[in-house]
Amino acid sequence: MVKRVGVLTSGGDAPGMNAAIRAVIRAGIINGLRMYAIFEGYKGLIDDDIIEVDRTFVSEILMRGGTILRSARLKEFKEEAYQLKAIEILKSHKIDALVVIGGDGTYRGGLDLAKHGINVIGIPATIDNDIASSDFTIGFDTCLNTIVQSVDKLRDTTSSHQRCSIIEVMGNTNGDLALYGGTACGVDLILSPEYNPPMEEVINKLRHIRMNRARHALVLVSEKLIPDLEGFASEIRQKTGFDTRVEVLGRLQRGGSPSASDRVLAARLGVKAIDLLLEGKSGHAVGIVNNQITSFPFEQALTMKKKSGIELINVISTLK
Ligand code: F6P
Repeated sequence: MVKRVGVLTSGGDAPGMNAAIRAVIRAGIINGLRMYAIFEGYKGLIDDDIIEVDRTFVSEILMRGGTILRSARLKEFKEEAYQLKAIEILKSHKIDALVVIGGDGTYRGGLDLAKHGINVIGIPATIDNDIASSDFTIGFDTCLNTIVQSVDKLRDTTSSHQRCSIIEVMGNTNGDLALYGGTACGVDLILSPEYNPPMEEVINKLRHIRMNRARHALVLVSEKLIPDLEGFASEIRQKTGFDTRVEVLGRLQRGGSPSASDRVLAARLGVKAIDLLLEGKSGHAVGIVNNQITSFPFEQALTMKKKSGIELINVISTLK
């Protein structure tokens, strides 16, 4: 039976991480567990940046973006020497379980520690929605709403000046932010890893829009898809006649108060993480599938293929 549980956030921060931290710490305390905050992810674990906390530690954080535990990316954590150091630190605090909140890199670290005998549960929190074992990750909905607000604003100026705006959104190698964001904003074209037509097709579509339908166009592009966006825009300018501008939304997409949906998801997943530890489970990632809170072993969560945004491609082309 676990007695002392550490909590950390790792990787890119996501709105709703604080709501998840709050849920885990409060659910742990109410169940008689001693709870420990680990700052700066696996880096803070190795540096022994750890304190025991009570329920007031997480007061007034539910509505705050970012993570009060701070975050970091520690590539070296793949090395066993770093993992053994982490185990040694955890043992010195008599911490026998961990809840790790983040994306796939966070799960990999959790899996390594579980193999060394620590009880670890993962909670999916990343704006990218790229964890296949959960239909949605904490932070995705808030980020999507930020994208929708930004694209709506860009539409105002794009149409006023009769331009073509190429808008880059995040998502790492997953296109969900572009596909969902583009659907929600009714943009003219979405380019993502799941739908990446040749340049000739892009030009033809934009020419068609310019000549037949509208005098402006909005194109949403997933990050990392087109290495030279300015070059891409310049080709569109030359071949379609559209005055074309590039807008990179960048890290503003990661900020802001979490949406109601992300807060509720964080509460449900946080409570489930503690339930699993109390049942004696380890090496699992919690998630939401068909609106049911569930869990999968880390190995499975890390190898499953994400499909959720793909069906939107048909919806998008039907509505064009
Ligand atoms: O994983 C979240 C994310 O925002 C990705 O969308 C993006 O590719 C990456 O993190 C950027 O990370 P950083 O802020 O460390 O450069």
